[in-house]
Amino acid sequence: MNVAFLDLKRQYASIKEELDQAVFDVLAHAKFIMGPEVKTFEEKVAEYCETKSAVGVASGTDALLLSLRACGVGPGDEVITTGFSFFATAGVITRLGATPVYVDIDPDTYNIDPGQIEKKITSKTKAIMPVHLYGQCADMDPIMEIAKRHNLKVVEDAAQAIGSKYKGKKAGSLGHFGCFSFFPSKNLGAAGDGGMVVTNDPEMADLLRMLRVHGAKPKYYHSIVGYNSRLDTIQAAILGVKLKYLDGWTQKRREHAQVYDDAFKDSSITTPKEENFNYHIYHQYTIAVKNRDKLREVLKENQIGHDVYYPVPLHLQECYKSLGYKEGDLPVIEAKSREVVSIPIYPELTADEQNYVIQTIKGAV
Ligand SMILES: Cc1ncc(COP(=O)(O)O)c(C=O)c1O
Repeated sequence: MNVAFLDLKRQYASIKEELDQAVFDVLAHAKFIMGPEVKTFEEKVAEYCETKSAVGVASGTDALLLSLRACGVGPGDEVITTGFSFFATAGVITRLGATPVYVDIDPDTYNIDPGQIEKKITSKTKAIMPVHLYGQCADMDPIMEIAKRHNLKVVEDAAQAIGSKYKGKKAGSLGHFGCFSFFPSKNLGAAGDGGMVVTNDPEMADLLRMLRVHGAKPKYYHSIVGYNSRLDTIQAAILGVKLKYLDGWTQKRREHAQVYDDAFKDSSITTPKEENFNYHIYHQYTIAVKNRDKLREVLKENQIGHDVYYPVPLHLQECYKSLGYKEGDLPVIEAKSREVVSIPIYPELTADEQNYVIQTIKGAV
C-alpha cells in the first residue's frame, strides 16, 4: 500500500462540478482583480470567524506582514513570538526592520508558553504574535491580558487554524488581527496562494485595504507606501465553494485523530493533547517519538507520506545567527524539533489506509 501525506485530488473529485463552475464564472466575467467573488468571500469569512471585517490578501505571509505594518511595527521594534513555527512567522518581522524575540513553547501543545512572555518585554516591544500551531489555538487569555497591561498589539498567526476555537471563540477573532493562509495544503486551501486578515477594528480593516493596493485611497492617491497584495478573484471563487465544506472536513479530521489517539494510547508515542478549552482542527496530526529518524525511515520504506514541522527552530536558523541565540536557549522547542513527525490526517483518508499507517508505526517504535 502507498498512503499519500495529503491527496488533494480526492477533494477536487468530491466537489468538481461546483469548483469548475466557480472558475468558469470568473473566466466569463473577467474581473480577475478584486472581482465580486473577493468581497463575497471576505463577507463569508468575517461571518464564519465572527469578526466585523475580513480583508483578502495574496498569501498568509502577506496577511502577517500587512497586519504588523498596520500595528506600526518598523525598524528598531521588537515582536515577541514562538520559535517553533513556519519561517514566515519570523520572516515578516525581519522584513519590516524589526527584531523577532523568541519564546519557548508549552511541551503539550507546542504553542507559545504565555508564562514566558512577560520577561521578554522591553521598551521596544510593539506586538505579540502567537501561532496556533497544527490547528490548535494558543492560550490566548493570558496573552491578551499581558498585551493589555503593556499596551501591545496581538497578531494571531492562524495560518494553520481556520475553524479552530478557544473557549468557544473562533481563531482569528481573539487578538487584534487574525491571519489565515489558503496555501493549497491548508484545511481551507486555494488552487495557489491566498490569505486573509480578520479584525474587529474597522479603521484597521480600512488601513489593510489600503496597504494591499500600494497604499492607495482613492485610486492613484498614495498617502502611504503599501504592497501589491490582493487575493485573486479565481482563488476567492474557489475558496467560497470550499468554505461550505470546511466544518464537515474538520469533523472528519477530528474522527481520524480520535482513531490515532486510541491506537497509540498505550505506546511510547506522544499523541497531540487537545486542551479542554480548545477545539483542535488537526491541520496536522503530529506525534512525538524518541527514535524519530528511525521511524521516518520505516515510513519511507512503507511508502507512507509524512513530514517534520519543523526540523530547525527559528532561533537557530542560519539567517538569525546575528540575533545571538544558541543551542539550549529554548530547550523545549529544541527537544520537540528532534521528536515530532506529522502523519496523514486529511479528510478523505480511508480506514484501510489509516490502519496501515497505525500498524506500520506501531511496528517501528
Ligand atoms: C504558521 C504559518 N505561518 C505563516 C504561513 C504563511 O502562509 P503562506 O504560505 O500562505 O504565505 C504558514 C503557511 O505556509 C504557516 O503555516
